[in-house]
Amino acid sequence: MKIETNHSQTISAVLGDITTLSVDAIVNAANNSLLGGGGVDGAIHRAAGPELLAECRTLNGCKTGEAKLTSGYHLPAKYVIHTVGPRYFGPEENKPQLLASCYRNSLRLASLHHIASIAFPSISTGVYHYPLTEAVPIAVREVLSGLEEYPDIKEVIFVCFNKEVLDCYEKELCKLK
Ligand code: APR
Repeated sequence: MKIETNHSQTISAVLGDITTLSVDAIVNAANNSLLGGGGVDGAIHRAAGPELLAECRTLNGCKTGEAKLTSGYHLPAKYVIHTVGPRYFGPEENKPQLLASCYRNSLRLASLHHIASIAFPSISTGVYHYPLTEAVPIAVREVLSGLEEYPDIKEVIFVCFNKEVLDCYEKELCKLK
């Protein structure tokens, strides 16, 4: 499923493994330490190699909702943008705003670094238990407004690791047609 904005930017949802995508940047659903973990975080670190962890160690962690950029090392993607989503059952008050800022700050960082193509996993919807039905509309809305703000970003891909996630994104993108 692919949607085109009026600045001829595209938003699509695909089934796959984000570590295989040859885009300018992939986004990592990290934790506050930025020192790796399971899920997509673990997959990205495994595929990028040990240099990624070495660079992450110099970043001094990342606050929930914020984003930090590193090189992609052995990944096909040139950069990794690490962002930390809220835990659905965590202590934070404003979880929807924190999740929205993960997407917004990742796009802001992408624009700053002249990144034209960027792929997102479904942030917070795995280990952090954010329900897809609540997270996906936030993701799509924030990416839409981010593309308005950053016309130099030409392509956004939502990479879904399974069919359930893909169906959620396709349903949400269908509303934009
Ligand atoms: N490619 C794309 N998506 C993936 C991949 C992959 N290789 N591996 C997992 N996913 C998907 C999951 O299926 C889920 O839909 O990424 C989404 C986010 O799930 P998590 O990776 O568990 O991330 P999150 O829920 O944000 O939890 C972050 O988990 O891995 C740890 O260190 C990480 O502590 C942090 C927490």
